[in-house]
Amino acid sequence: MSVSSSLANLIDRNAPFWTAEAEIFRAYWEWEGRSRETDRLWLVRQSYKEFWDGFVSPFEQLKAAFEKIDRGIGRHEALDFAATLHEEFAHYVAFADAYEELLEPGDPRLDPEKLRLDGDWPENGALVQLRKQHKEEFGDLGHRAHFFTEGGYCTLYAEGMKLAGRGGVDDLIAMACKRVFDDEFEHMLKGIIGLDAETTSEEEWESLAEMTVAQMQYRIHMRNAQFSYPVEGTALDRLVAGDCPAMPFDWKRAGLTPPS
Ligand SMILES: [Fe+2]
Ligand SMILES: [Fe+2]
Repeated sequence: MSVSSSLANLIDRNAPFWTAEAEIFRAYWEWEGRSRETDRLWLVRQSYKEFWDGFVSPFEQLKAAFEKIDRGIGRHEALDFAATLHEEFAHYVAFADAYEELLEPGDPRLDPEKLRLDGDWPENGALVQLRKQHKEEFGDLGHRAHFFTEGGYCTLYAEGMKLAGRGGVDDLIAMACKRVFDDEFEHMLKGIIGLDAETTSEEEWESLAEMTVAQMQYRIHMRNAQFSYPVEGTALDRLVAGDCPAMPFDWKRAGLTPPS
């Protein structure tokens, strides 16, 4: 399937921010402030995101569809909710298992209710709030912007997978990220495919670009906080400004053809 130049342009506008998000993880893996405590903290927060930001929505959708399957809601649509909820639950399991490997005897274990109470953090809340505001202001276009920035081009999982072979906690992280990467690449594609059919005017494409870039900038703060602020000062300003080389979009893996 080939994509329009407008969609390719939207990807180009976001690609430097994907690199910026990846830079946070690369900085963190080598950071002198990294400790067992900071590893535990980001894993708790990732578990929160997978469960409460990832799993709950398809779970609620399937629950709501239950009585209407083949009586208003197609079985394939319901199957899609079921597949997504299985995947997001498996992501929660992967990160929660990695977290629990880092516990000392007697440390409290993790569960969804504890995550609901303590797993979120202010910069993640700010991102959720921005997306909500975009949806309120722009309706369906705001939903498309959210869908597009979901997962931030999977850079956490891609960078985490590169830790394989370093031993200890790094191997645990690599394993969890490997479990998640393929699914999240597909979830990202769902946010891209369909944009060409749904987005009709130049103004809409421009609004999408502005919303997605703003959301990516909030994502960078969200990730930096999740990982205990490994990047600061002018280095952080540079990332938030998107002053980075563009991350190459994997057209082949996506099964898409860029405009010539
Ligand atoms: Fe996920
Ligand atoms: Fe996902």
